[in-house]
Amino acid sequence: MRVLLTGGAGYIGSHTALCLLQAGHDVIVLDNLDNSSPESLRRVQELTGKQAPLIVGDCTDEKTVTRVFEQYPIDAVIHFAGLKAVGESVAKPLKYYQNNLDATMVLCKVMPKYNCNVLVFSSSATVYGTNQEMPLREDFPTGCTNPYGWTKWISERILTDVAAADPTRSFILLRYFNPIGAHESGRIGEDPAGIPNNLMPFICQVASGKLDHLRVFGDDYPTRDGTGERDYIHVMDLAEGHLAALEYAIKRSGVEIFNLGTGTPYSVLDIVHTFEQANDLKIPYEITPRRPGDIAVCYADATRAKELLHWEAKRDLNAMCRDAWNWQKQNPRGYNG
Ligand code: NAD
Ligand code: UFG
Repeated sequence: MRVLLTGGAGYIGSHTALCLLQAGHDVIVLDNLDNSSPESLRRVQELTGKQAPLIVGDCTDEKTVTRVFEQYPIDAVIHFAGLKAVGESVAKPLKYYQNNLDATMVLCKVMPKYNCNVLVFSSSATVYGTNQEMPLREDFPTGCTNPYGWTKWISERILTDVAAADPTRSFILLRYFNPIGAHESGRIGEDPAGIPNNLMPFICQVASGKLDHLRVFGDDYPTRDGTGERDYIHVMDLAEGHLAALEYAIKRSGVEIFNLGTGTPYSVLDIVHTFEQANDLKIPYEITPRRPGDIAVCYADATRAKELLHWEAKRDLNAMCRDAWNWQKQNPRGYNG
């Protein structure tokens, strides 16, 4: 298959590009490099011995997307391109709605002109909003708490309506839980700009001495140790989930939703202690008040993906912590080092 990865130079996209190339597929990347570097794809080439051509361009621009389809016959699209900073989305909602929704709609418009019906979409566990019942199942009620989340929710809606109107379409909505870690080579990984918002990149920068300590946002949640619990998934497991989703999608039509998580929640302190043990390091931390907008617990019921996609996460928390640090250690300044 020849697969177009929008946003394929980013964190999850580059690991998925590697998986697809290793499985024998051809990969084309369309990315505006807003939050990524072409170096990620250069390293994917170094690791696989295969090239994924990068078209630097914007997915919200119909002419650009059309040009890509004119240039390459494309069998399927994995749509990663999107802005993802929750805090920024609250401050600049229009930027998020415009980028994330236009990109989805432009793809829906251009793809059928080139008989391309298969699309796998990067959604998020954030669409489950403040659901209290755990584990989260795909048929649970949805709703969001910030503009970023709503862009995922509305994109899911758009894709569902477009597929309902055209029975040839096959769309898969993947709700990711918390991807962390890096390829085991340490050559590709997560390269956040500025001070990281997310837990694992923050811990990695504390471990490297760039930041002096971790702030643990709250120890008064109704959880085992009082700190927030999440469903962390190794980015390589997540990447392999996309391969399984593509194989499923090409054989059918309609819309399907899958959680991609492990089904096991870990607390902030579980992550800190596993990171320390896996890498023989100390992570200094202090307990601070809760971060506004955070929920206590969030984890997946991952049975649907197991039953229908024949996929499940294989890598444990130890591997996630080891691979995250291996990447950070080898690339203290990310791709720009
Ligand atoms: P990332 O920022 O590393 O990758 C996204 C890529 O999309 C970047 O390379 C960026 O340059 C590109 N991009 C953004 N807007 C674009 C546009 N209009 N045209 C072309 N390229 C564009 O993020 P990631 O962590 O790899 O996430 C990939 C997708 O998964 C995103 O849609 C994100 O919202 C979603 N997601 C991520 C997480 C997470 O925790 N990382 C969780 C749930 C969902
Ligand atoms: N945390 C800290 N200190 C930090 C950073 C995070 O204690 O410096 C805690 C948080 O309070 C939370 C846990 O670590 O309990 C995980 O936080 P992250 O920021 O890594 O991840 P979130 O679960 O808050 O959010 C992630 C993505 C969102 C997405 C959401 C649901 O960043 O984009 O998962 O999928 F919407």
